[in-house]
Amino acid sequence: ALGAAAEVLAAHVRDVQDFPKPGVVFKDITPLLSTPAAFGVVIGALADLARDLSVTTIAGIEARGFLLAAPVADRIGAGLVPVRKAGKLPGATRRETYDLEYGTATLEIHQDAVAAGERVLLVDDVLATGGTAAAAHNLLRGCGADVVGLAVLMELSFLAGRDRTGALPVTSIMTL
Ligand code: PRP
Repeated sequence: ALGAAAEVLAAHVRDVQDFPKPGVVFKDITPLLSTPAAFGVVIGALADLARDLSVTTIAGIEARGFLLAAPVADRIGAGLVPVRKAGKLPGATRRETYDLEYGTATLEIHQDAVAAGERVLLVDDVLATGGTAAAAHNLLRGCGADVVGLAVLMELSFLAGRDRTGALPVTSIMTL
């Protein structure tokens, strides 16, 4: 199922040159989102993975991760937890700051987002340098969750994200 999803995904991702800055090729998933049959295949592949891992909670990373995590959670009957950028969540939060190429970024989750022992699958569109995924992983572990994996549509392997995600098992539909 992952192989079929990879073909569909490849046909529905658009390369945008020099976004968000010169020299970067942005992987735009809006063609995937706007094509129901294709989106369904990709969400189905993620849902199959989550079922195989006996996941009880899907955690989506703002913002594009939300677009994937929500339909997967709904399909498998799992809870949905948003991992948000700083200052967006209303309740008491845990926060984690991590390094970007220039500067830092901060992610937050609600302190009571997951019960101890929940089996959580982290979902995002892209694994690049891995800083975002590593921070999200730390936040969820801090809540007592059992983070069983990270699933992404695309892994930019030349940025070596897995070096930062450590022992977290990563599944990518497409590796670039
Ligand atoms: C992108 C992407 C991942 C993250 C990957 O999000 O959706 O969340 O960067 O990068 P990293 O592996 O180098 O940490 P972005 O910060 O663009 O946020 P957005 O989805 O809200 O636009």
